[in-house]
Amino acid sequence: MSHRFDPATESIEQFLARHEKKTLLRFITCGSVDDGKSTLIGRLLFESGLVFDDQLAAVERDSARWGTQGARPDLALLVDGLAAEREQGITIDVAYRFFSTERRKFIVADTPGHEQYTRNMVTGASTADLAVILVDARKGVLTQTRRHTRLVALLGVPQAVLAVNKMDLVDWDEARFAAIVAEWRALAESLGLPATVAIPMSALEGDNVISASTRMPWYGGLPLLEHLETCAVDEGPRQRGPLRLPVQWVNRPNADFRGFSGLLAGGRVRPGDAVRVLPAGRPSTVARVIVGWGDVPEAVAGQSVTLTLADEVDCSRGTLICSATEPAQVADQFECTLVWMDAEPLLPGRPFLLKIGARTVGASVSTIKYTVNVNSGEHLAATTLELNAIGVCTLALDRPVAFDPYASNRDTGGFILIDRMSFATAGAGMLHFALRRSQNLHLQGYDVDRAARAALLGQQPAVVWLTGLSGAGKSTLANALAQRLHTAGRAAYVLDGDNLRHGLNRDLGFTDADRVENIRRVAEVARLMADAGLIVITAFISPFRSERALARSRMDGIAFVEVHVDTPLAVAEQRDPKGLYAKARRGELPNFTGIDSPYEAPESPELSIDTSAEPVDAAAQRVLEWLRAQGIVPA
Ligand code: ADX
Repeated sequence: MSHRFDPATESIEQFLARHEKKTLLRFITCGSVDDGKSTLIGRLLFESGLVFDDQLAAVERDSARWGTQGARPDLALLVDGLAAEREQGITIDVAYRFFSTERRKFIVADTPGHEQYTRNMVTGASTADLAVILVDARKGVLTQTRRHTRLVALLGVPQAVLAVNKMDLVDWDEARFAAIVAEWRALAESLGLPATVAIPMSALEGDNVISASTRMPWYGGLPLLEHLETCAVDEGPRQRGPLRLPVQWVNRPNADFRGFSGLLAGGRVRPGDAVRVLPAGRPSTVARVIVGWGDVPEAVAGQSVTLTLADEVDCSRGTLICSATEPAQVADQFECTLVWMDAEPLLPGRPFLLKIGARTVGASVSTIKYTVNVNSGEHLAATTLELNAIGVCTLALDRPVAFDPYASNRDTGGFILIDRMSFATAGAGMLHFALRRSQNLHLQGYDVDRAARAALLGQQPAVVWLTGLSGAGKSTLANALAQRLHTAGRAAYVLDGDNLRHGLNRDLGFTDADRVENIRRVAEVARLMADAGLIVITAFISPFRSERALARSRMDGIAFVEVHVDTPLAVAEQRDPKGLYAKARRGELPNFTGIDSPYEAPESPELSIDTSAEPVDAAAQRVLEWLRAQGIVPA
């Protein structure tokens, strides 16, 4: 029977069972379309039997069933993971193509055509056994090649192949090949990349891809496919490590069975093993280990398993089942290496979602320690990370997660940052260590709590967040509203941009990064004051959706009322109370909101007020009525 999949003669289950015994090699290809990446992958897939391209839909359908039974051949696991992410609205940038030969099965992480290269490779690389780095024989080692090689080393991919492509265009010249390889090897060695091989090829003409080229008799090595088929895949280090199972699904087909499924990311597991469920840390014992459709005496890293535990511990999707004697660490602040993949630069303080294993939490970068020059490896100071930049940063999460340093486990130490608005992957990173402060800080609980303080003041605390252009009338409206609340016997306080920028925030200017930090601090102060029982009115341009969303998400039960002071730019500019628009127009005030710095209007504010169409007293009254209608202020 052929190694190819033919739906006419067998089912996917039969096919996968037939391939169960073959070793699996996961690899990535680094290079752009110009280097011949798509030609190369196309040729590998075509000549060796593409399995799941057209059949992806079928696998997706079937994987739902496998999920409930806890039997998850690798591919189903991958596809299912993708489906789960798609459900959450997270964009997937990488296509995993599965193919097989007589000797081995493969998963290659590929991005259909186009796009920036780091994004493609970083997402796929954290699980890869091998990276194929493509260079064009005419161009040799470019900045991009250096970046790829650095990333491969950083991501801990154990093996690399330098594929020197388009040899046909340099007349199959041995000296040219040797020069490129020498330059690259020097780099690879300096980065500590362990196993490297270089292959001269022509993906277009097929030389040294599937079969040996007759046109480069001077090359004594293997063609690419044969190298991929025969290189050693060492599962050893992972399997020798401590037990780690990121729980991807909780299966509960009936009241008697509760199984925790996922891909074993470290160690081995047997019935009777003492475990801990992190981050909560509950201890338990493994009752059953299920692989495929039956119980097994032992499972090892790399296998998809379902475990049942002896106790009714709290263990949901996103938790990490660990060895009890060598548990993972739990923390909410880290140092990490971050690879930035978004066209929008990374701004410290900006809120993202962080996905580690199967767990997703809120996160932001607190500081950028430095970026790495991809050519020289030099460390450079930086306040933002641009597209494709590699930086070392500190990271703060809104909840603790279980993790291992990336150097000891790529699965439990790698993460991605996801944009909260678009759900696109914005960055990928590797955790170094937990910051000590994150382990030594604990929230204090007090007997006099928010409810007690609010009761004393006889009001519901709230944050009324005014946003809009400079000159839109935020401060005037805030003032009028505060006056009305005061008259009504309510304790209110106004936080104002110009005022805070004289004290707490006097170190901040008007770059995007500074505005993000400005609003982050304002949100924290507003939350504290509301927690004290006050009705807080904030008057800041707060131009970015992301930070307003952050402010809202930080309120933790405190009413948050977003009011868009939606006065047209032309009117605000005409008012120009401080003469700033005029200055900005003359080019004397850079980064001025509405002129050369963006304002992202709220999409669904609780209230919208155009002060050019509504007198300020009427507007303030309207906000007050709204607060009354919501029960925040007694009628
Ligand atoms: S925010 O963008 O970070 O929310 P914030 O509300 O604190 O801004 O401060 C805005 C006030 O700073 C404006 O009302 C204006 O008086 C002043 N200002 C000075 N420079 C700028 C600028 N480049 N852009 C906007 N406002 C500026």
